[in-house]
Formats: sequence, structure tokens, C-alpha cells
Amino acid sequence: MSPISQYVERPATGAKSQFEPGHKIPIQHMDKPGLESEMADPKPVYDQIPTEDGGYQPYKPAGKLKGKRAIITGGDSGIGRATAILYAMEGASSMIVYLPEEETDAQETKRLVEKHGTKCHCLAIDLRKRENCKKVIDTAVQTMGGIDILINNAAFQNMLSDISELSEEQWERTFDTNIHSFFYLSKYALPHMKRGSTIINCSSVNPYIGRGDLLDYTSTKGAIVAFTRALSNQQLKNGIRVNCVCPGPIWTPLIPSTMQTSAMDQFHAVPIGRPGQPSEVATCFVFLASQDSSYIAGQCLHPNGGVMVNG
Ligand SMILES: NC(=O)c1ccc[n+]([C@@H]2O[C@H](COP(=O)([O-])OP(=O)(O)OC[C@H]3O[C@@H](n4cnc5c(N)ncnc54)[C@H](O)[C@@H]3O)[C@@H](O)[C@H]2O)c1
Repeated sequence: MSPISQYVERPATGAKSQFEPGHKIPIQHMDKPGLESEMADPKPVYDQIPTEDGGYQPYKPAGKLKGKRAIITGGDSGIGRATAILYAMEGASSMIVYLPEEETDAQETKRLVEKHGTKCHCLAIDLRKRENCKKVIDTAVQTMGGIDILINNAAFQNMLSDISELSEEQWERTFDTNIHSFFYLSKYALPHMKRGSTIINCSSVNPYIGRGDLLDYTSTKGAIVAFTRALSNQQLKNGIRVNCVCPGPIWTPLIPSTMQTSAMDQFHAVPIGRPGQPSEVATCFVFLASQDSSYIAGQCLHPNGGVMVNG
């Protein structure tokens, strides 16, 4: 069976959630960067929203992003995929950016997006290189005719319990992927953005709780919050809003490809009592890109399962 044919389209309204409070995710491990097509059941949910009674209902679009053009890094899978799909449902086209190893996931995202009648352009490229970030922006302008939304979402993480184990190479790789690329993409995209355009960065709950087994990753995620606030204050004069989303535990390929068994075992341990689905984060990216959030700038939204954070 090819990886793509393993995708299961979820039944619509009434399907019971397999992530009830207290539900532990299946312990599984895969090589980095991780493919959504290889994740065990339950699969991540990207276009349905949990109901009050533990089921799912289809996301209800309302034309909030009609005609918009979005770049979504890490858009092949997980939170990026769910965002590309909800954006398509809301009327936006997108260019998804991902690593070459993730081509099969990217092609499936393209299929799921284009079902909704908008275009999904695919670009496999390594964002650790500055010149590749420039190429992403040039390609987006050529293929979509402009950029209205930049979603900086790609990330690398690798768990290590002590700073003595954390190599200089890993430290630099994490910063190159998780924050330097955000700077380059924003810098190169902004000249093409106009009043009403938005940049939305993906951080994490981790800088708020100081997660010790992800020292490098947590440091970059803190930098993303500060980068968001400073860039927002700088760009409001141009009518461009910059905001941030800080997810908690979300069931995506990042988890089985990077987390140790003990961390996976505790993955549900947030006040809501279950891991979140990519669709529950993608709704934040819809809100922050749309005019519904017209008075919100330099802020963080926290789809983290109820963890109290300060700021
Ligand atoms: N899943 C969670 O529990 C969780 C929690 C907090 C924050 N986040 C954040 O959510 C965002 C999306 O992650 P996800 O959980 O959907 O996982 P994911 O594995 O589906 O997405 C991460 C993506 O980053 C991209 N990427 C990594 N290195 C790259 C590089 N050098 N060049 C180009 N692309 C690269 C890959 O395409 C990959 O698909 C990340 O910023 C992550 O830090 C996730």
C-alpha cells in the first residue's frame, strides 16, 4: 500500500473522538523529520473540530480569507497542513514549504487543499539556508502574484536531558531552522506585503514553562515571541499585523519523530486532559490572518490545553 492510500477520510458529524480526557497517544517512533502518512491511528485531525460531547464536526468556513495568498512553512503536515486546509476552506490559496523527504505528505496536502477549489503550490527546500528563504519569497511572488499572509511554522527539535549532551551543531541547526529562517522570510516578504497583510509566527508553550529537555528549541521559541512583538511594533506603521501562536501538545509527526517514550507517555497531561489536534491550532491561524483580529497585534494565542501562561 502506498503511504498516500493509507489516509483515512474521517466520517463527518458524530464521529467519536479517540482523544477523550485521559487518553494517551500511542507510543511510536519514526525517523526525523517524520511523515504523517506513517503515523499510527488515531491520525491527526485537520479539517474537523471537536464537539462538546467528544465527537467531531466539520469546520464551518465563512469566506474569511477569500482571494488571499499565503506562504505556509512546514505546510506538508501537522499544524501547517491543517492551516493550509482551513485557509482553502476560507478561500485562500497557498504555497507550502517543506523538506524534500516530505514530498509524499506535501502531495497529500495539495490534494486535500485543492478539493476546496483553491491552489496549493508545493516547494521542497531547506529553510536553514538564507538564499533558500529568498527563493521561497521569489517563487511565491511569481506563482501566486503576491503575498498576503506569511506563516512561519517550520521547526526542528531533538530532546536531550542535559546541556552537556547538546552539541554545538544541534544548537545551530535549531536556531537556523526555528528563528533565523523566520527573520529571512519576513525580511524578504515584507517588501511584497501591503496594508492588511499579516505575518503569523508559530512558537510554543515551552518558553513559558522553560522546558529543560528541549533547551535549544525552547530558546528559539522564546526568541520567536520577542521577534513577534518587536516586528509588530515596527510594522504597524505600514498596516501590517504580526502575531504569534503558541501551541501545547498537538498530535503531529513532530511528536513520534522527536519525542522520547517518557515524554509521549505524559503528552496528554495538560488541564484539558488530552492532546490537541492540528485543526484546533489552525483555527488560531485563520483568526489572526482575518479581519476578525483587526485590533490584535504583537500578541500570542495559546491553544495549549489550558496551561496558564504569563504573557
Ligand atoms: N506538535 C506539537 O506538540 C507542537 C507544540 C508546540 C509547538 N509546535 C510547533 O508547531 C509547528 C509545526 O509543527 P508540527 O507539530 O505541525 O510538526 P510537523 O513535523 O508536522 O511540522 C514541522 C515542519 O517543519 C518543516 N521543517 C523542519 N525543518 C525544516 C527545514 N530545515 N526546511 C524546511 N522545512 C523544515 C518540515 O516540513 C515539517 O513538516 C512548529 O513550529 C512546532 O515547533 C508544535
